[in-house]
Amino acid sequence: MAGPVSVAVLGGTGDLGGGFARFLLRQGARVIIGSRDAERARAAARELSSEFPNAPTVLGESLAEAAAAAELVVVTVPYAAHRATLDAVRDVVQGKLLLDATVPLRPPKVLRVQLPAAGSAAVEGQQLLGEGVRIVAALHNIAASHLAAGTLPDCDVLVTGDKEADRQVIVDLLEAGGLRAWHAGPLANSAAAEALTSILIGINKRYGIHGAGIRITGTPQSG
Ligand SMILES: NC(=O)c1ccc[n+]([C@@H]2O[C@H](COP(=O)([O-])OP(=O)(O)OC[C@H]3O[C@@H](n4cnc5c(N)ncnc54)[C@H](OP(=O)(O)O)[C@@H]3O)[C@@H](O)[C@H]2O)c1
Repeated sequence: MAGPVSVAVLGGTGDLGGGFARFLLRQGARVIIGSRDAERARAAARELSSEFPNAPTVLGESLAEAAAAAELVVVTVPYAAHRATLDAVRDVVQGKLLLDATVPLRPPKVLRVQLPAAGSAAVEGQQLLGEGVRIVAALHNIAASHLAAGTLPDCDVLVTGDKEADRQVIVDLLEAGGLRAWHAGPLANSAAAEALTSILIGINKRYGIHGAGIRITGTPQSG
């Protein structure tokens, strides 16, 4: 696989995290599920191991233990749990690359864009964790079911982050799994991808689509 070989998925017991864990396992990554409840993480890990018998063993740990054990830490939790999740791993993620997929949805009005005062959930996360953590934000506009099923979704992924090299690691990881991923500029631009999710949820609802996504048109001549 491209890029990091050990990946902690915090919130991997849930929909997006479970889908992304499956995406990673298809690429041969070593996956560590992180949960507020280590036993729940282990149960999810056992399920994944039986689903992917030829992949490296999947482990389940507490949030901090999972994050400490991985090269790449992925955050897939509801916005209401974002701060607490980052607080739980702050010390052990220093110096690491962290992929944040959190969308600042505020139920019940999830069809309305409601970005936090910092500008985006990812920027809020950066402020919380400090500059020692290299945050890249992505996956906001892909339905978990696409990632879980392993069918190539006809939608693209916007990848934002302040360091081009860090964005590239994530672009490579996503493209190695068959997704089309785009450098979408600095982490502050995650506001656009996070905001789009409310629009996509509304489109799903209005038109009866299962997992609407976005597509960038045009043919790249470079990069
Ligand atoms: N689902 C999608 O298709 C999709 C697509 C794009 C982006 N996203 C974004 O990805 C993030 C995760 O979405 P999801 O649909 O995977 O969420 P989810 O299934 O409801 O939750 C994911 C995990 O978060 C953990 N968690 C921690 N604190 C929580 C709390 N207070 N309430 C509920 N769960 C909590 C739970 O794990 P433990 O109980 O094991 O700790 C749960 O399994 C969200 O920010 C969402 O907006 C989702």
